[in-house]
Amino acid sequence: MRLSSEQIRQFETEGWFFLPEVFSPEEVALLRDEAQDIFRTKREEIWLEKSGAPRTAFAAHTYNEAFRLLGADPRLIEPVEQVFGEQLYMHQFKINAKAAFNGEVWQWHQDYGTWKQDDGMPEARAMNISVFLDEVTHINGPLMLVPRSQTSGTLAAAHDLSTTSYPLWTLDDETVTRLVNEGGIVTPIGKPGGVLMFHGNLVHGSAGNITPYPRKIVYLTLNAVSNYIRRPTRPEWIAHRDFTPIAPVPEDSLLRYARSAPKAA
Ligand code: SIN
Ligand code: MN
Repeated sequence: MRLSSEQIRQFETEGWFFLPEVFSPEEVALLRDEAQDIFRTKREEIWLEKSGAPRTAFAAHTYNEAFRLLGADPRLIEPVEQVFGEQLYMHQFKINAKAAFNGEVWQWHQDYGTWKQDDGMPEARAMNISVFLDEVTHINGPLMLVPRSQTSGTLAAAHDLSTTSYPLWTLDDETVTRLVNEGGIVTPIGKPGGVLMFHGNLVHGSAGNITPYPRKIVYLTLNAVSNYIRRPTRPEWIAHRDFTPIAPVPEDSLLRYARSAPKAA
């Protein structure tokens, strides 16, 4: 899937873009079922909120066939390859549950801040591209993005180890206020199957979810192969050390698997 020059221009200016309903209901139903099964299992890669509700499942593409296919889906790989102009490897893969009633906040941050500090990534040549597994609305904890904030480079951040179960390099209120005064806040919303891509230095966060509606999103963090991480400190299943370029699978692979998987039969 190649981006149009208009989409590239929007990404370069605003730091993000959203494509509605890229994945079909059948594909998303499979991924959502598989995600629910994953969140019911106990593994070190699955992190809970302080309440015990599911928060994040890492590296599902390494042990689950549906997510393996998603991690090599050309609809996600090609746009990021197009922007970086080189092949990519999977730096991180996570499913964020943002559970009904219990999904907690993601504080204001830039992803590259964490990739740089914790993983020794040389440049902001990695990017999150995400797939909505549930409908994302204005009320169930959508991502909040600060448009154009990626042009500020990498901002000073503090390591927050206490707000949630997930350690994060977070931005202070003054910095966020200044950037929001300049760029505002947008909340891309849409039906399951939508795809959101945003720059590694784009400031973002999300509020807690107190609604009965879960908000699961899968994030592929794709890094340019030449930008491989130099000083990893986090476990291999959070910051991968396999820098092999991703070879995209045929675009109908996930649909074929959905139709042949035992549950869909
Ligand atoms: C993230 O910023 O890494 C996740 C935010 C979210 O899922 O709301
Ligand atoms: Mn983030």
